[in-house]
Amino acid sequence: MQNFVYYAPTEVIFGKDAEAQTAAAVSRWNGSRVLIVYGGGSVRRSGLLQRIQSELDAADIAWTEIGGVQPNPRLSLAEEGVKQALDFKADFILAVGGGSVIDTAKGIAHGTANPDTKLWDIWTEQAPLTKSLPVGVVLTIPAAGSEMSDSAVLTNEEIGRKAGINTPFNRVKFAIMNPELTYTLPRYQVTCGIVDIMMHTLDRYFTHTKGNEMTDEIAAALLRTVIRNGRKALENQQDYDAMSELMWCSSLSHNGLTGLGAVTDFGPHKIGHELSAKYDVAHGASLSAVWESWAKYVCPEEPERFAKYARDVWGVEETDTEAAARLGIEKTVDYFRSIGMPVSIGELETGVRTDDELRDMARRATLNDTITLANFKKLHQADVYEILKMANH
Ligand code: NZQ
Ligand code: ZN
Repeated sequence: MQNFVYYAPTEVIFGKDAEAQTAAAVSRWNGSRVLIVYGGGSVRRSGLLQRIQSELDAADIAWTEIGGVQPNPRLSLAEEGVKQALDFKADFILAVGGGSVIDTAKGIAHGTANPDTKLWDIWTEQAPLTKSLPVGVVLTIPAAGSEMSDSAVLTNEEIGRKAGINTPFNRVKFAIMNPELTYTLPRYQVTCGIVDIMMHTLDRYFTHTKGNEMTDEIAAALLRTVIRNGRKALENQQDYDAMSELMWCSSLSHNGLTGLGAVTDFGPHKIGHELSAKYDVAHGASLSAVWESWAKYVCPEEPERFAKYARDVWGVEETDTEAAARLGIEKTVDYFRSIGMPVSIGELETGVRTDDELRDMARRATLNDTITLANFKKLHQADVYEILKMANH
């Protein structure tokens, strides 16, 4: 086990009617002028937004709103939000939605606290972030885990780059999670969420760090729980218990817990971001499309780790290491397929890409081969290209 710092300061308010505690939570964090951030309208259609606004009114908390956040959220909308927050003199940013809305809210909070700094300079770490505004979340989808993570991802649409920033300032103050709020989700978003939750732990699990028993056990338990309850939730999207498990797993999978004390990987995430930046594909789909190729490409680095995964998560009994490792990969891909997720680039709605496009993505991902991605196997531009080529069918 390696040295670690565990800092996951978000207050979690979980369960039926939890959103009725939003105004009280905002008050606890001294919010008196709130900018509410939301997406394309699902929270207005469900009545959630209006309920929260009435609650804030009743508590004498002033609010204004900015909607229209798209999946793969754009930098420009966050910049617009910063202007609005400054005009309104907002002292609190409230996200009502999923990862895209939460990440936009985080961006607005950072930009508003640093009005003289370009938001993209903060994102590319050219300008160090030393302060931000408090952010709270009412979560509507179990997926990205942004409600407890130290990360936020925005797409700079002018240069076609999707990038994340990790900082303690990305930890939100509170996350309100009522699993019933997920009942209106389109099935495709539930499946994308299942993949993303699994991948936040998988991208930590594949590590060469040894002697990390507790973290490995937590990771395996989380993966088994998501696999089981993912199936249940897809049989009945209004299964409260299954959705509760998914929602809690979404937060635990990306708050640092499942990778504590280990070197993490995140190769599939970095490669997936290139697909989302270029073709606007859903985040979860970008991950399932490349995972098999990534896994097969990096498995020879330490097949024993893949075999352990196969045994602990999928119950594989095969004693031969390489065969067990292969079975673990197969079972994961079969699961993605069984829930209707794409398992190759060709199965994404954008279809098979040209060789030039693959080379371009590999070049962008590695900033012209000046950086490597990931850790289980350090990926140079040529490696990323190979993985994309293997997935391009
Ligand atoms: O925009 P609306 O109308 O609200 O519809 C959304 C959107 O179309 C819909 N939706 C959400 N909750 C709903 C609902 N529809 C009906 N009923 C509900 N209860 O779902 C669609 C997807 O929403 P989005 O917020 O994009 O989903 P998700 O939570 O999967 O977030 C994905 C984004 O998060 C980033 C991804 O890259 C992607 O941009 N990530 C953020 C991370 C972080 N900050 O820690 C980590 C992740 O790895 C990920 O990169
Ligand atoms: Zn993710």
